[in-house]
Amino acid sequence: MYVCVCKAVTDKTIRAHVAEGMTSMREMKQCLGVGSQCGKCVQTAQDVLQKSLQQQ
Ligand code: FES
Repeated sequence: MYVCVCKAVTDKTIRAHVAEGMTSMREMKQCLGVGSQCGKCVQTAQDVLQKSLQQQ
């Protein structure tokens, strides 16, 4: 599913980046641009990030 529609970032993409070492929203914003436009995705992106980190 799309987490960030503005930047076309999916939960799968976020999980793949976590697997490669991404650990924070700041990194996610820098790498993928998540939350850098309308900002509506931030809460969902945080949830996906936390879940992905727990599954590491
Ligand atoms: Fe992510 Fe708009 S949906 S910035």
